[in-house]
Amino acid sequence: MQKTLIGPFAQILPMTGLPLKGALQDEQLTIINDGGILVMAGKIALIGNYAEMKAMADSETLFEVIEGEQVALPSFVDCHTHICFGGNRAKDYAARNAGKTYLEIAAEGGGIWSTVNHTRAASEAALVAGILSRAQRHLEQGVTTIEVKSGYGLSVAEELKMLRAIQKADKESPADLIATCLAAHIVPKDGQTAQGYLKTIVAELFPILQKENLAQRVDAFIEQGAYTPADVQYYFEAAQKLGLDITVHADQFSTGGSQAAIDHSAISADHLEASGPKEIAALAQSDTIAVALPGASMGLGCAYTPARALLDQGGALAIASDWNPGSAPMGNLLMQAAVLGSYEKLSNAEVLAGITFRAAAALNIQAGTLQEECQADIVAFKTDNYQNILYQQGMLIPAQVWKNGKPQI
Ligand code: NIG
Ligand code: FE
Repeated sequence: MQKTLIGPFAQILPMTGLPLKGALQDEQLTIINDGGILVMAGKIALIGNYAEMKAMADSETLFEVIEGEQVALPSFVDCHTHICFGGNRAKDYAARNAGKTYLEIAAEGGGIWSTVNHTRAASEAALVAGILSRAQRHLEQGVTTIEVKSGYGLSVAEELKMLRAIQKADKESPADLIATCLAAHIVPKDGQTAQGYLKTIVAELFPILQKENLAQRVDAFIEQGAYTPADVQYYFEAAQKLGLDITVHADQFSTGGSQAAIDHSAISADHLEASGPKEIAALAQSDTIAVALPGASMGLGCAYTPARALLDQGGALAIASDWNPGSAPMGNLLMQAAVLGSYEKLSNAEVLAGITFRAAAALNIQAGTLQEECQADIVAFKTDNYQNILYQQGMLIPAQVWKNGKPQI
């Protein structure tokens, strides 16, 4: 069978042999100098020293020769985005910078509900096109696995439109798109109670979700002005009975969400900007992965997730972009992860783990490492030392990206 040997790379960081939880030091990183990656049928067949692999190559091996010095890593996993949406919220951004809070703007008719109106007005095809263009930008920045949430539909029909758009975009995009049903984003302003609406979601949306295989994951925004832990109890329990994973928008402005996430054995609790010592200690002791969203801290101009404290207490930390039109319009995962590292004093290893295998664990998928039998999802940067990647805070952009062994840029 045809194989391709890619290399030589000045360094390969396979991101293997590292624990899912706890602090990491750069000395723990495996670095393969003068490395090569042998790809067969989209998967990694072998990874090791380039010269040795070249010497062993047979007549069916093709060579993809790397020009100059480059460092290869597993391509990045963005485990929390809202890149399926209509409209934009530049007006909200200006209002926040003029002194209004996110919750005040929402109460005055801006915020998430205004994106719901624009998303409802968009056709499924327009939503697919929007997802594809954002996924393409992510691919060029080295992100090949992207979680995408619904949550701007807020009715059975409109949430279905979003989830079907995500499924269609996944078929067309080279990136892997992982859909999450965020029907419990805010309470729809169409006259229903929180619990009445979620009962309808469980009764009418969940069966179609399952039948059409639209999502394996269910999310809720637990916050003042959104849902309480009591509101989502039935929704989460119903999802779990169907074998779906739970994830929570937790402790963004006030606490309560992270404990609800732990109580429901959620796979991840995301945001956590408002988490205090009690919440961080509980998360660190749990199996729930903490997902920091520095793009939301930047977009809203508020605190960063206490990532250092969480790691020091043995917690699992992933980092995602939260790319959405409201709180996190930038959508540059590498830049945001680098900046979080600088604010929170994270090692290179901790930041890179947070956007590779630890992010994949938050999605309950296999990705984010370079090892035999894994898909050949690789990003390479023009540098001879991996430390330059985060040092340049997102301005060193990938020279090459491969998805399932296929070059994307
Ligand atoms: O993760 N916090 C709730 N949801 C999104 C914001 C979505 C929006 O503002 O449109 C978030 O920040
Ligand atoms: Fe979010």
